[in-house]
Amino acid sequence: MTSPAGHSLDPLATRLETRGPVVLPALLLCDFGHLAREVERLEEAGAAALHLDVMDGRFVPQLTYGMVVVEAVRRAAKVPLEVHLMVERPERSIADYARAGADIVTVHVEGLTDPGATLETIAGLGAKAHLALSPDTPVERVEPYLDRCDGVLVMSVEPGYGGQRFNPVALEKLSSLAAVRRQRNAGFRLCVDGGISTETVGPVAAAGAELIVAGSAVIRAQNYAHAITELEQLAREAA
Ligand code: DX5
Ligand code: ZN
Repeated sequence: MTSPAGHSLDPLATRLETRGPVVLPALLLCDFGHLAREVERLEEAGAAALHLDVMDGRFVPQLTYGMVVVEAVRRAAKVPLEVHLMVERPERSIADYARAGADIVTVHVEGLTDPGATLETIAGLGAKAHLALSPDTPVERVEPYLDRCDGVLVMSVEPGYGGQRFNPVALEKLSSLAAVRRQRNAGFRLCVDGGISTETVGPVAAAGAELIVAGSAVIRAQNYAHAITELEQLAREAA
């Protein structure tokens, strides 16, 4: 199977779907002057996939990057890419991001007028459709769409910046989504993003998180491989 950008989705199936909890490094705090080298270092360090934070300066205060950078990462990377869209009206640009090389497109429920239709659009483009919710958004907001989600991303910080403190409200939400998933026998993956560290990775894995985004805990570490391995090991022990 190939994505709309023409690259193989096999790594997604083999690495993200068959392992236990995995850490997805977020590029937000990396050295963008040496982007390809950073991607290579993260892959060599064992990253199962990479998490790309697209911010438009309106949905969140910060402005980061868009399709051009996603395409550049796609050219440099072999692993799957998750594109986390923190933008107004994401439905206008999801096709472009899928074409740019996103294997997973993550959209915020707070920014959508018709979440179900947007998730279907993402799936129709051949990408995995993930729905994100911010710390103040209750899980009830995503529940009507869970049958159309490949993943649910529980934000454990306010979207907008790397390096923030973990908000424990995410633990209750992960646990309650894990319970709903069991009840409905649903297949969506549980994901978490924000404030992940050696202290918080165990609790989120215990609460059910499988795709665990880590920005500063990896990028600010001296040794990416050591940071990823340690986080994944702590997550596996707790899961
Ligand atoms: C925040 C972003 C996160 C961020 C995570 O809006 O969605 O992906 O990069 O960074 P840390 O792990 O430092 O909180
Ligand atoms: Zn993110």
